[in-house]
Amino acid sequence: MPRLARFARLGRGLDLPRVGRAVRALSLGLTRERRLAGEGYLDRPDSLAAYLLFYWPISYAQVRALLPELPAPRRVLDFGGGAGPAAFACLDAGAGEARLVDRSRPALDAARALAREVASPLSVERRTVPGPLPDGSFDLIVVQHLVNELWAGEPDALVRRVALARSLLSRLSPGGTLLLVDPALRETSRDLLVLRDALVAGGAAVRAPCLFRGPCPALARPADWCHAERPWEPPRLVAEIARAAGLHKEALKMCAVAFASPGEPWPEAPAGRVLRIVSEPLSGKGRRRYVGCGPEGRFGLSLQDKHVGPGNALFGQLARGDVIRASGLTARGDGLRIEADSVVVRLARAGEPAPSAPHPRRGAEGERPRSPGGASRSPGP
Ligand SMILES: C[S@@+](CC[C@H](N)C(=O)[O-])C[C@H]1O[C@@H](n2cnc3c(N)ncnc32)[C@H](O)[C@@H]1O
Repeated sequence: MPRLARFARLGRGLDLPRVGRAVRALSLGLTRERRLAGEGYLDRPDSLAAYLLFYWPISYAQVRALLPELPAPRRVLDFGGGAGPAAFACLDAGAGEARLVDRSRPALDAARALAREVASPLSVERRTVPGPLPDGSFDLIVVQHLVNELWAGEPDALVRRVALARSLLSRLSPGGTLLLVDPALRETSRDLLVLRDALVAGGAAVRAPCLFRGPCPALARPADWCHAERPWEPPRLVAEIARAAGLHKEALKMCAVAFASPGEPWPEAPAGRVLRIVSEPLSGKGRRRYVGCGPEGRFGLSLQDKHVGPGNALFGQLARGDVIRASGLTARGDGLRIEADSVVVRLARAGEPAPSAPHPRRGAEGERPRSPGGASRSPGP
């Protein structure tokens, strides 16, 4: 944080109310009103300072939180990386080298200075989308908080984003990952899921977080969307700026999808009814509810207080992103009910890699066949 504060060129004292106002303006312009999306806001000193002091640490922490679910990369491309939080996050997590590309000179200058200071193997290049991609291949390409800004509001935005994502996929080394991260808003989430579906329809496999291989079931109803959440203790300065800006940053929230390199198959889900929790705990009279999404689709899950037992007690302690295996459920409408004798086991906590079956054997005892297309509407028990 002290280095970021220095590169934010705010002089000795930190004018917290001014930074707070700039953060608030960025937040409104990039999330609620969206009028800044795609604009050159990082070229303005106040916005760059707000970005470096507030959004940079958040972007950095988001990528640090997502990396454990992915194969460890050696060569990283931070595409549209601003002042490089994703690149630094990967380097700090053990990557060997990182390339950062962006169109904003001031942001790249800040990244260059930061890299010099901490002697990081970061190379920086100014590039604008659309335009040629950087040379070479990469184990991990991160595109963080950029996709939603590209061609925003234009009728052919999806087609152009798909074309860009496909060319980025083609730059992955075998076993590599394309990680797309966007703000946790319904609109940006749904746009990202539509992009996911287009890539999946073209044969791409999702490494995380999706366990469902068909079109994203969250798109079936206009109100639904999907995002990740990780607990986070913000640095003191970030917490102070958040207060000054009237924002809440007690947790990291983001929409993220990681795609495997072309030709790589989907990870095989473990046997049984496996579900990722994709909601926070939902209050309900006398029962605990979540939404789960797994190889069979997306379902409401519920457990009545009177049915809490030794095998299912864990259900009440789940967090968004956890992966569970549940047995002995009953189909109820378009959801699943956890019964007194149901067994709920956590296979992975949010942020841990979802386990995959070691030896995929379709139809083996205890393994459910996957539904090949859209979400199953009437799940079996
Ligand atoms: C919200 S910032 C995100 C920066 C960084 N990835 C992060 O997550 O903190 C969006 C970045 O995309 C860059 N950008 C926007 N449109 C661009 C374009 N057409 N070509 C290249 N970079 C672009 C901006 O300069 C800015 O650095």
